[in-house]
Amino acid sequence: MNPKPKLIYVSALLIILHHHLYTSQAQPSTTGYTCTTSNTTTYPCQTYVLYRAQSPDFLDLASIGDLFSVSRLMISKPSNISSPTSPLIPDQNLFIPITCSCNPTNTTSISYAPLNYTFQAGDTFYIVSTKYFENLTDYQSVEVVNPTVIPTDIPVGATVIFPIFCMCPNTTLKTNNKINYLVTYVIQPSDNLSSIASKFNVKTQQIVDFNGNKTEPFDTLFIPISQLPELSQPNVVQSNGTHNEDHDGAVIGLSIGLGICGVALVLVLGLWGYREFVRKEVVGDFEGNKGALVLKNKGEEVSLMADVSDCLDKYRVFGIEELREATDGFDSRCVIEGSVYKGCIGGEVFAIKKMKWNAYDELKILQKVNHGNLVRIEGFCIEPEEATCYLVYEYVENGSLHSWLHGDKPQKLNWKTRLRIAIDVANGLQYVHEHTRPRVVHKDIKSSNILIDSNMRAKIANFGLAKSGCNAITVHIVGTQGYIAPEYLVDGVVSTKMDVYSFGVVLLELISGREAIDEQGRVLWASAGRVMEGSEEEKMRRLKGWMDEALVRESSSSMESMISVMAVAVACIHKDPSRRPSTVDIVYALCKSDDIFFDTSEEDGPSASQVMAR
Ligand SMILES: *[C@@H]1O[C@H](CO)[C@@H](O)[C@H](O)[C@H]1NC(C)=O
Ligand SMILES: *[C@@H]1O[C@H](CO)[C@@H](O)[C@H](O)[C@H]1NC(C)=O
Ligand SMILES: *[C@@H]1O[C@H](CO)[C@@H](O)[C@H](O)[C@H]1NC(C)=O
Ligand SMILES: *[C@@H]1O[C@H](CO)[C@@H](O)[C@H](O)[C@H]1NC(C)=O
Ligand SMILES: *[C@@H]1O[C@H](CO)[C@@H](O)[C@H](O)[C@H]1NC(C)=O
Ligand SMILES: *[C@@H]1O[C@H](CO)[C@@H](O)[C@H](O)[C@H]1NC(C)=O
Ligand SMILES: *[C@@H]1O[C@H](CO)[C@@H](O)[C@H](O)[C@H]1NC(C)=O
Ligand SMILES: *[C@@H]1O[C@H](CO)[C@@H](O)[C@H](O)[C@H]1NC(C)=O
Ligand SMILES: *[C@@H]1O[C@H](CO)[C@@H](O)[C@H](O)[C@H]1NC(C)=O
Repeated sequence: MNPKPKLIYVSALLIILHHHLYTSQAQPSTTGYTCTTSNTTTYPCQTYVLYRAQSPDFLDLASIGDLFSVSRLMISKPSNISSPTSPLIPDQNLFIPITCSCNPTNTTSISYAPLNYTFQAGDTFYIVSTKYFENLTDYQSVEVVNPTVIPTDIPVGATVIFPIFCMCPNTTLKTNNKINYLVTYVIQPSDNLSSIASKFNVKTQQIVDFNGNKTEPFDTLFIPISQLPELSQPNVVQSNGTHNEDHDGAVIGLSIGLGICGVALVLVLGLWGYREFVRKEVVGDFEGNKGALVLKNKGEEVSLMADVSDCLDKYRVFGIEELREATDGFDSRCVIEGSVYKGCIGGEVFAIKKMKWNAYDELKILQKVNHGNLVRIEGFCIEPEEATCYLVYEYVENGSLHSWLHGDKPQKLNWKTRLRIAIDVANGLQYVHEHTRPRVVHKDIKSSNILIDSNMRAKIANFGLAKSGCNAITVHIVGTQGYIAPEYLVDGVVSTKMDVYSFGVVLLELISGREAIDEQGRVLWASAGRVMEGSEEEKMRRLKGWMDEALVRESSSSMESMISVMAVAVACIHKDPSRRPSTVDIVYALCKSDDIFFDTSEEDGPSASQVMAR
């Protein structure tokens, strides 16, 4: 034999061997990917999954972060998203960090990142793995890692481990091929290997070498890369609802598929038209026709609005009879608070607020805003006879922050939940301050105007006192004792910095668990400044003495994050409004605290998914 064929033979053998070794690592499996722990493997390791934002529940980093037990910054940084609170669009690609480990089962070891998931009504292993986790795991593996859980009988609130598929490169791959990550990627129906390869800046062959020629949709691929590619992110603008002023344009828009902005515009114009109409008609020929008049005469416009809203924004025109029925004729038993009633219409629960005509101020402002951290307005009802307007809001299940902090709730909120509420409120405020034109100042931020939904997420309510426009001067002092910024009391200057002040007081409430003003009339902010004086140790000691006892009992790891939130709170209540941070700074600083909390709580793991403090 001459040397040449021999060489060919040997290299062919090597290629086959090579191929075999590669593919044998990533055999598809219905129960996960097997792994071995030896001195050449590197389990556990940090790696990433590619996740796609999805409507309706996973369109912001906070809820996706909750799903994967990571902070928002931990997703926004690797995903090339500049603001951790910016909204996402469906299908937007994200890199989410996971910790991949090799876990023994009764037969073999499989590699996955264990994520805790709390079951909610309607969830099954299949739905959670295919829908929420987007096939990054499958139900068979979930069964394997939760051998004691009966899949058909999982109580709401039970925690189940979902094993997210992952792999760690071994030392050979790391040193010889410079492969640092094997990113978990689920093939989409629109993908082909070359489109996936170009997304990750790798060669198609590298993907095939590691995974074999899997190309079926929803198969899992592990993409070998040395560093994460930079994702190109869409520039998502938060809708400020003030888009185009052209009425005809909007009506044409209606017939050719509506965007949210279009709807907002129709509503804005519709309501204004409606208002003008009601004003004139109510004074004019109104006898005998009562409430039906408006709907009859304006039938076309109103039903158009109702149609559109039904499918898109749920912005509805309610009939007074509907509301009466829902609230037992506005019975006192249905009162949530003040003139806000709880009512059930067509199986859905709403909060119904009874107002005089000046409700238009609130309506006008709420029309312009559309944000997950602001209580959503669902519709309205006009009762010309009594010159009354009813605003119908989404019903926020868990009551006000005030009732959680100072009320009769049996459980105390833990630090993670409090921090998340703080970020939610800051985020809602940032939206009204920065993304509305003219700017909206809420003017009455306080814990009783912050509502908590079933997922313990916060929403700002009650825009009844809100003012459009900056630096307006008001004659009547409004607001709530204990939360009002000093400059407003002195000269009535309204600015966004006034909301920042009140927000600072809410942060103090979250940390201290005490009311903004106590029975003796002492204000909370007066005692806050002293806490943050002196050296780090002194601060720590003073804060421990000052903060909510329920938090003192929590793991010491939250301390660092509490100190940094306390620093934000103290900055917010600075006497000089120009020295207070903007809501943009606040959101950033709070997200940082969230990050610190996640980093430190990893080690001594206070179950981050639990809502309540012990
Ligand atoms: C590391 O992984 C590669 C590819 O899966 C494989 O070819 C190689 O044999 C592995 N090395 C060791 C030392 O296990
Ligand atoms: C790994 O362990 C084997 C025996 O189990 C040993 O022969 C080998 O030298 C070790 N390799 C390294 C890199 O430590
Ligand atoms: C997950 O896979 C199933 C088919 O196995 C598919 O119907 C479903 O749409 C996939 N989920 C996502 C979010 O792509
Ligand atoms: C391992 O567990 C699975 C399911 O939990 C079970 O079906 C299987 O029989 C077990 N295997 C052994 C060897 O115990
Ligand atoms: C892969 O998909 C892209 C678009 O996603 C397309 O341009 C390309 O032609 C496809 N390549 C193959 C080999 O099908
Ligand atoms: C995958 O590749 C192997 C050879 O590498 C080939 O025999 C097989 O048919 C391919 N499978 C598919 C589905 O293309
Ligand atoms: C990453 O984000 C920045 C800023 O948002 C943008 O300028 C850049 O183009 C993005 N990178 C890629 C690859 O799109
Ligand atoms: C929305 O707000 C941005 C600033 O936040 C502004 O630049 C933009 O013009 C507004 N959009 C419209 C249509 O008014
Ligand atoms: C998941 O739950 C287990 C037990 O309840 C806990 O030990 C673990 O820390 C939790 N993991 C995460 C990431 O929250």
